[in-house]
Amino acid sequence: MNTLAVLLWGAFPYVALASFVIGSIWRYKYDKFGWTTRSSELYERRLLRVASPLFHFGILVVLVGHVIGLLIPQTWTRAIGLSENAYHFLAVALGTVAGACTLIGIALLIYRRRTVGPVFLATTRNDKLMYVVLTLTIVLGLTATVDANIIGSGYNYRTTISPWFRSIFAFQPETSLMAGAPLVYRIHALCALTLFTIWPYTRLVHVLTAPIGYLTRPYIVYRSRDLRGARGTRPTRRGWEPTRPPTA
Ligand code: HEM
Repeated sequence: MNTLAVLLWGAFPYVALASFVIGSIWRYKYDKFGWTTRSSELYERRLLRVASPLFHFGILVVLVGHVIGLLIPQTWTRAIGLSENAYHFLAVALGTVAGACTLIGIALLIYRRRTVGPVFLATTRNDKLMYVVLTLTIVLGLTATVDANIIGSGYNYRTTISPWFRSIFAFQPETSLMAGAPLVYRIHALCALTLFTIWPYTRLVHVLTAPIGYLTRPYIVYRSRDLRGARGTRPTRRGWEPTRPPTA
């Protein structure tokens, strides 16, 4: 048995899974107040208003595509009357559009982060690492889809990558299946595993707790207090209100 294949496709997935689960629990327990997107909406809104929904709706469709493509066996989709050709056409069409939206979205988000001064200043080293791994994963996924299916004559990952992915959760990893997949798919999967490994220690934790309405909620509007229009009869003083001694 090839040792490298066992390490990459038999051991690394469990390291990533353990880091993802244990790291998330640890972070939630010990850094509840740091569990945030660290939103930069306050600094810049014009670009964010386009880039953020583009990225988030794109990645959501990509995620649904991955759940169907990796978790649902080919025999099941065939059993409900969906032929391999029809599945392939739908997956490639939707996957390419969603992948392109995700890529354009993240490119705009990175451009904004680099060019808007306060947003750049609020970017940590940890963010930069996360952006690199996330972008690489997206670029490689899209390259695999376009290269194999649009430029090339097609690659049925549901006979190799998908059963390997499911075998991880059955605790019997079939490493040889993955070792035989095309290189770009393998590097894509390795980048994804790296992303899952670092996930709990980055701002990506917000994905685990994002409420359903988060993506469509209106933007939060911050207003300064309008003193002239303040209601009430008592005139408002400048500065802090003096504290009163507690009444008995
Ligand atoms: C171990 C986990 C993962 C595996 C095994 C995997 C595997 C795949 C496969 C087989 C494809 C389809 C290529 C084709 O159409 O022939 C794909 C596409 C893609 N992947 Fe992944 N992927 C994983 C995780 C991720 C993650 C975490 C992201 C994003 C952060 C991602 C982003 C993409 C994108 C953007 C595409 C192209 C669009 C699409 O087909 O949906 N993948 N991936």
